[in-house]
Amino acid sequence: MTERMDAVDVIRTKRDRGTLSHDQIDWVIDAYTRGVVADEQMSALAMAIFLNGMTREEIAQWTAAMIASGERMDFRFLGPTSDKHSTGGVGDKITLPLVPLVAACGVTVPQLSGRGLGHTGGTLDKMESIAGWRASLTNDEMLTVLRDVGGVICAAGAGLAPADKKLYALRDITSTVECIPLIASSIMSKKIAEGTGSLVLDVKTGTGAFMQAESDARALARTMVDLGTDAGVKTVALITDMNTPLGLTVGNANEVRESVEVLAGGGPSDVVELTLALAREMLAAAGRPDVDPAPLLQNGRAMDSWRRMVAAQGGDPDAALPVAPLSEVVTAPADGVLTVMEARAIAVAAWRLGAGRARKEDPVDFGAGIDLHVKPGERVRAGQPVMTLRTSDEAKFARAHEALEGALSYGSEALPPRPLVIDRIT
Ligand code: URA
Repeated sequence: MTERMDAVDVIRTKRDRGTLSHDQIDWVIDAYTRGVVADEQMSALAMAIFLNGMTREEIAQWTAAMIASGERMDFRFLGPTSDKHSTGGVGDKITLPLVPLVAACGVTVPQLSGRGLGHTGGTLDKMESIAGWRASLTNDEMLTVLRDVGGVICAAGAGLAPADKKLYALRDITSTVECIPLIASSIMSKKIAEGTGSLVLDVKTGTGAFMQAESDARALARTMVDLGTDAGVKTVALITDMNTPLGLTVGNANEVRESVEVLAGGGPSDVVELTLALAREMLAAAGRPDVDPAPLLQNGRAMDSWRRMVAAQGGDPDAALPVAPLSEVVTAPADGVLTVMEARAIAVAAWRLGAGRARKEDPVDFGAGIDLHVKPGERVRAGQPVMTLRTSDEAKFARAHEALEGALSYGSEALPPRPLVIDRIT
């Protein structure tokens, strides 16, 4: 087949700070998906975009072209639908209580999730610590769970935005990930292709976040909200703090345990606060601002949805969750107040204990991770346990302790508390 364009011309346009035409974007994404544009050419284009940016119109077209590279689902015939996407945080297990909670409120939640890579955890890894639970569903199976339960958490199939799958892997090895137009189009192509009617974005900022600076988080949120809105998906973003891990667990099975506590009406206050804030946004975006989700955590209805959702995918909601056999406790060095608990360092330590993977094909130690006993602002006594590290491999403790060096600070007074939800972008 004769190609109607040449990749070199497209790269040169962006290299010279020009604006890519709709036709150039459609062609280059399609030709890359077909294997006509080579990885080295796409790498050069990604780097040119990284350095020179994209206009709002270019980002919208780039997103549309990535959606068009694969199948597009549509679940809106099921009634009001909503989904949530988090840009990734430490101890961020919010999807687990949130999906059944919103489903119990009568809004359908088609949640396609990912696995962890590097220091960030993945929802599918957490869910897979439940015995028997299966992440991969066919489209028909996904529809059945949505019909029966109202919410589903599963893996995105290979047919969804295949251009993004290829490009994201390439960006990962060419240092072109941290680029707002490319991140926004990558996330939103998958979310729009998934066929939800509304979307709530949890854009994290702080040391444990992808976007450490608040100004970058705001710019990413603005770009993603505009993309969703332009594509006809009602989209709202919350900017939330990610300097300290969420809740008291970082890992996989321990995060499931904490999520179940929230569904049982308990759990740490920050996890409950963010779950409810996001649930309210999802309900409002789906046209149900009148529904208050809070009572459903107390009266067992969200728990009932969770149990049915887990069982529908082969999981046993009553099975004991794995706990790694080896543990070491980190204690407070002196009397005082814990002032800082560095989210990224805690994540790296949990990852080194076996909770995360370095390569896609690596296994995860579901029972490994960190249980926190104290959070910033709390007073401690010398020798008091601050956190427990768990692993199945003794050799892993040393590198985990190295990651924790300098992660905890103590003082005589607590620092002023930071709000968890910093802003709302519409
Ligand atoms: N998550 C994605 O799906 N894509 C990105 O580019 C970054 C985070």
